Amino acid sequence: MSVDARKREAAEAAVAAEVKSGMIVGLGTGSTAVHVVRAIGRLLATGELTAVVGVPTSEATADLAREVGIPLATLEQQPRLAVCIDGADEIAPDLGLTKGLGGALLREKIVASAADRFVIVADDAKLVERLGTRAPIPVEIVPFAAAVCALALAALGCTPTLRHGPDGAPYLTDERNHILDCAFPDGIAAPGELDLAIDRIPGVVEHGLFLGVADVAFVASTDGVSVRRAQAPASQA
Ligand code: A5P
Repeated sequence: MSVDARKREAAEAAVAAEVKSGMIVGLGTGSTAVHVVRAIGRLLATGELTAVVGVPTSEATADLAREVGIPLATLEQQPRLAVCIDGADEIAPDLGLTKGLGGALLREKIVASAADRFVIVADDAKLVERLGTRAPIPVEIVPFAAAVCALALAALGCTPTLRHGPDGAPYLTDERNHILDCAFPDGIAAPGELDLAIDRIPGVVEHGLFLGVADVAFVASTDGVSVRRAQAPASQA
């Protein structure tokens, strides 16, 4: 089974279990979340779901959702969501996550925070014992502060690299910010401390550590989809 087939399987299992008619649903970003959006679109088209409204986490997801016929709302219109379903770049055993290789981490974290349930969909390649070992931590910064933020982040033990787009120019997020991808040579020993330390740097808008926010992860392997739950309610983690 291909990686994309596993992503699709995880996405479809999550939609079947978590999305009910009438819900306001946060729609994630990335190659796994694409399958979530398509699955919801198909179920709306057949009438198996009705009155679902999506809140997209990126312009790309908004475009796809419109294409597959999911009615959309902004956070301004719907600041409270029943569920948000999104992908991840790394999933630790306690459901701590890294996200943002797709560049949408800021809106993703905001939409996730507005949802009663935050559901992750992924293939099993995303499972890690320690965050930061498979992917860098993307840190979204205001462009004015790029050099200052890079120095402050390096002082936390990583190598920050300014992300560039396909055109060779610095990557611009949907909120018109830049991203520093922060590689930690041995992964992150204390994610909670790093979370706070990055937040304290002036010029940082948000970062890709999502700790204590995921309620459940649908993870697909060649053996099928396993459902991993956070040990404690996300609000207490
Ligand atoms: C987007 O900014 C990211 O947070 C994605 O959710 C994450 O990178 C997972 O993407 P894939 O499903 O494409 O691996």
